[in-house]
Amino acid sequence: MHSILGHMNKVSIGPKPYMSAMPIVLVGASVGGKPNFMTAAWAGVACMEPPMVSVSINKSRHTEKGIMESETFSLNIPSTKNVAEADLCGLISGSKDDKASIFEIFYSKSTNTPLIKSFPVNIECELVHTIDLGSHNLHVGKVIDIHADEGCLQNEVPDVVKVDPIIYTNGMYYRFGESIGKAYSIGKTLKKS
Ligand SMILES: Cc1cc2nc3c(=O)[nH]c(=O)nc-3n(C[C@H](O)[C@H](O)[C@H](O)COP(=O)(O)O)c2cc1C
Repeated sequence: MHSILGHMNKVSIGPKPYMSAMPIVLVGASVGGKPNFMTAAWAGVACMEPPMVSVSINKSRHTEKGIMESETFSLNIPSTKNVAEADLCGLISGSKDDKASIFEIFYSKSTNTPLIKSFPVNIECELVHTIDLGSHNLHVGKVIDIHADEGCLQNEVPDVVKVDPIIYTNGMYYRFGESIGKAYSIGKTLKKS
């Protein structure tokens, strides 16, 4: 395998909550009947059938209260043009400030979870599991529906170039890079015939 670092000795850096690069989402929840959004990098896909996603939330967050009481939440996917709003929702707590008022919010018929209109994709979830891991609770949500901007769809799924998500790592935000190969396919070039 090649990497830009070449072959180097391994150094133990100890246990850390590390992952190489993470797309950020704004977790929406209704807290005491009021909409709130917080930035999260620790989210991902959890199950295919039924479709489920997960997000890990510190127990001290205002959002945590809302997820537990309403048993629904949303994962709103920002574009790079939304980077300042996305960062702001990670800087202040809804317990002190009304962050939700900076967004145009919409609701679906199925849940009371707030969704952000100006973000290209909104994943609406029903809470099915909460796993207490220590500082954070890992919430698993069944996907009830995905609301996507018409213009970002390609064959009925959001296209990553059009969505233009924000990637977070090591204290900085980045944009998505170029493709380097076809999945479930390029590996075949290494198969011995
Ligand atoms: C880039 C970024 C990623 C973050 N990821 C998470 C996360 O995955 N889980 C978490 O609990 N907090 C995360 N935070 C911190 C919360 O967004 C922050 O504490 C926020 O103010 C909580 O808002 P709330 O109290 O209204 O829920 C992140 C913050 C930033 C800026």
